[in-house]
Amino acid sequence: MVKPLSIYIHWPFCLSKCPYCDFNSHIADSVNHARWLSCFKRELSYFKNTVEGDQVVSIFFGGGTPSLMRPETVQGILEYIHDLWDVKKGCEITLEANPTSIEAGKFQDFKNAGINRVSIGVQALNDRDLKFLGRQHSAQEALSAIDVADKIFDRRTIDIIYARPEQTLKEWEEELSRALKIIKGHASLYQLTIEQGTPFYTSHKRGDFSVPTSDAGADLYDLTQDMMEAAGLPAYEVSNHAAEGQESAHNLTYWRYGDYIGVGPGAHGRVTIDGQKHATRIHRAPDIWLDRVEAHEHGLQGCEALSKTDQGEEALMMGLRLSEGVDIQSIPLNEGRLSQLVREGDLMQEGTRLIATRQGRLRLNAVLSYLLV
Ligand SMILES: C[S@@+](CC[C@H](N)C(=O)[O-])C[C@H]1O[C@@H](n2cnc3c(N)ncnc32)[C@H](O)[C@@H]1O
Ligand code: SF4
Repeated sequence: MVKPLSIYIHWPFCLSKCPYCDFNSHIADSVNHARWLSCFKRELSYFKNTVEGDQVVSIFFGGGTPSLMRPETVQGILEYIHDLWDVKKGCEITLEANPTSIEAGKFQDFKNAGINRVSIGVQALNDRDLKFLGRQHSAQEALSAIDVADKIFDRRTIDIIYARPEQTLKEWEEELSRALKIIKGHASLYQLTIEQGTPFYTSHKRGDFSVPTSDAGADLYDLTQDMMEAAGLPAYEVSNHAAEGQESAHNLTYWRYGDYIGVGPGAHGRVTIDGQKHATRIHRAPDIWLDRVEAHEHGLQGCEALSKTDQGEEALMMGLRLSEGVDIQSIPLNEGRLSQLVREGDLMQEGTRLIATRQGRLRLNAVLSYLLV
């Protein structure tokens, strides 16, 4: 049987740092693009020689801001992946893009390099909130970038952050109605989370702004689900919505607990080595990563074998995010707690599948910590 494999490539640079973001992203005065390409290739080659996997089924350039990459770097990486592995025909190859005019101007070159899907970080459709979020683009620039993308790519998705400070249900309803006019097949709609270590964490703690209470957040989530379902874009995952057949193959690999290689600073992976599933973690610092790859062919900081219990827990944590749920035949669970969560309307069981309800998905962390004692 063919063993499928997905590949994640992390580009860790941004033009500026958004105050809410805790992704591994850095601002650099200069980037040696040839050196980066060489190191990506060396780390890919290391994984090719180490992990199992016959066919690449999806590739994702994430960040940071991979739309700041040179198209020839993207092309060099994709050609090298084709040299190393069999790549499935029509393989989904996504690149995350920030919607500034400079980056939109590179979309055709990214397509020529092999990208067939873009994920555009729109984040908000009004300039006041974009400014608050520290974005480098206006709403109009985002709309223009979408227009450019639609002339070039058959598949594209957008990211929006809602549940912003002071955002009312009515305001979000109006903004989401406008967003629906530009959503084509797929959208990721995230509630703003205040992440530790970010500037927002400090200013929020200081009381500079407040985010919606959990009840208000639940109302915003409900409204989002209702509007997206009515528009034929139901959630297939907690924050991800798609028309039938437009789900992201790459993200489904994560949530269905498939194997994926994570390459580049701070990337994580789940791979099989000698028949055993492992969790991999690459060093986060860009300069240290470059040095380590040049010295050892990889920048791995951790590569741990996962026990059957670890794997069951991880598969459950990922699978319950999906509206299709997760097969629990080989995951031992506390029956009493499971029945209680079913009675309380957080979970439902269909044969051997366990599915989180809309209510359960909204408070998934609490559901999981109760279930996984
Ligand atoms: C790696 S990030 C961004 C990719 C790209 N650099 C951009 O900014 O559009 C992926 C997505 O995570 C979401 N995100 C990041 N931090 C978040 C936060 N604190 N709360 C909610 N969503 C967040 C944003 O919607 C973002 O587009
Ligand atoms: S949200 Fe995107 S652009 Fe902003 S800092 Fe994070 S990765 Fe960079």
